[in-house]
Amino acid sequence: MTTANENEILTRVGAGTKMGELMRQFWLPVAKSSELVADGDPVRLKILGEKLIAFRDTSGRVGVMDHRCPHRCASLFFGRNEENGIRCVYHGWKFDVDGNCLDMANVPPTQDFKAKVKAKAYKAEERNGLIWIFMGVQENAPGLPDHEANLVPEEQMGINFQLRECNYLQAIEGELDTSHLGFLHFGSVGKGNFEGATFRSTVANRAPEYLTKETDYGAVYAAYRPAAEFEGKLNWRLAHFLFPCFALPPLAALDTNVALRGYVPIDDENTMCIILFKKDNRTAEDWRERNAIAGGDDFHNLPNTTDWNGRWRLKENRANDYLIDRDIQRGKSYTGIGGIILQDQAITESMGAITDHTFEHLAPSDKMITETRRRLIRAANAYAKDGTLPPCAANPAAFAGTRGGAFFTDEGADWLESYREIMAQAPIEARIAAE
Ligand code: FES
Ligand SMILES: [Fe+2]
Repeated sequence: MTTANENEILTRVGAGTKMGELMRQFWLPVAKSSELVADGDPVRLKILGEKLIAFRDTSGRVGVMDHRCPHRCASLFFGRNEENGIRCVYHGWKFDVDGNCLDMANVPPTQDFKAKVKAKAYKAEERNGLIWIFMGVQENAPGLPDHEANLVPEEQMGINFQLRECNYLQAIEGELDTSHLGFLHFGSVGKGNFEGATFRSTVANRAPEYLTKETDYGAVYAAYRPAAEFEGKLNWRLAHFLFPCFALPPLAALDTNVALRGYVPIDDENTMCIILFKKDNRTAEDWRERNAIAGGDDFHNLPNTTDWNGRWRLKENRANDYLIDRDIQRGKSYTGIGGIILQDQAITESMGAITDHTFEHLAPSDKMITETRRRLIRAANAYAKDGTLPPCAANPAAFAGTRGGAFFTDEGADWLESYREIMAQAPIEARIAAE
C-alpha cells in the first residue's frame, strides 16, 4: 500500500521535490532531432515543470535553456535564432547554446558585463534522431545511457512521441503490469486469433504469476503461465524498469525485441511518451497483426502547436472520449478504442491527472509496480538525504545489453538464467552498433 507521503514523493517532479531532483540527475530524451532546424524557429519545451526553449544554431548545435532571458525575463521563445546564437528581441542580448552572453547590444561597451551573465542552459546531446538533455549538476553529467534502441542507426528505428495528459508514474506503470494485456487489449479474443505461440499463451491463461528482482539499473520482472501449445513448458513475458523513467516492454520474442519506452515528465500532470522500436519486418509485422487483433486503428498525432503542451497531441483524446465506438466494443474489441497504444493512453489518463495511489488495492499482479515504487522512493530519499545516487546514474554502460521480451522454458527452469542464456545468443544491436 502506498501512503500519502509516498504518493507525494512518487508523483511530484518539479524543482526542489525529491523525485524531481532525482530525475534531474539522469539524461532525459526531450525531442526528435527533426524538430529543430538550423537557424529555424525556437521550440517551447516543458520538462520536469521547467519552461525551456530549444533551438539549433547556425552550426547545427542544439541549445536548450530556461526560456527567460537573464536580463529581465522576456521569453527567448520570441528570440531571433541567428548567427550561432539566440538574440532576445527585448534589448538585443544574445546567447550561444551553452548560455554564454555573446552580445549586450543595449549597453555601452565601457559598461558591458556580458562575461558575468549566463543564460541557464542545460547540456544537450543528440544520438540517432533523439535529443537528450541533462538538467542535473552540470559538471556531473555522465555519457548518454547505453540504451540499445537508441544505439541503432536512426533509419532502422521508429521514433514516436505522444503527449499523455497524466502523471508519469501511472503512465509508466502500464508497462509493468502485463496482465492488463489479456483484458484491455485482448479481452475479446481467444488464442485462435493469434499465429504466434506467445500470444496464444497470453490469452489462454489471463492470470499469470509474477516474479520480480531489483537490478543495478532499476528492476526486472516476468509473468509466467503454462505454455498453451507446448506440454511441460512455461511462457514468460519479461520487462524492465530503468532509472529514472524508462521501460523495456515485452513486445515480441526476446531475441528480436529492440525497443524502449520513455515516460518523461513534462510537469506533474503531463508526460511525453517516447516510443522507440526496431523497424525490422518481423517486429513490425507482429505489431500490425496484434494491433488489428486488439480491435483497431492506430493513434494519430495532431499538428504540433507552439503551446507548452502543444507537441505531439493526439487526435483521439479525452475531449472526444478517444473516439470510442460502443458497437465495436460489443463485438471484436474489449474497449471499442482503436489500437494498443491508444487504449493505454485512454485508460491511464482516465485514472486522473495525478492518481491518488492511496486509494488503490494492489494485488499480486501488481508486484512489479510495488517493486518499482520502492526502488524510486528509496533512490529519491537517498539523494535528498546525502546526494547518493544509484550507481547506474554515473555509469552509462549499466543499461547496456538489457531487453524485454517473451520466451519459453521448461518447467522449473530459473527465469533469470534463461533470460541471460537467450541474451548471450541474441544479436545485441548495441554491441554491433558500437563495433
Ligand atoms: S529582457 Fe532580454 S535583452 Fe532585455
Ligand atoms: Fe497496454
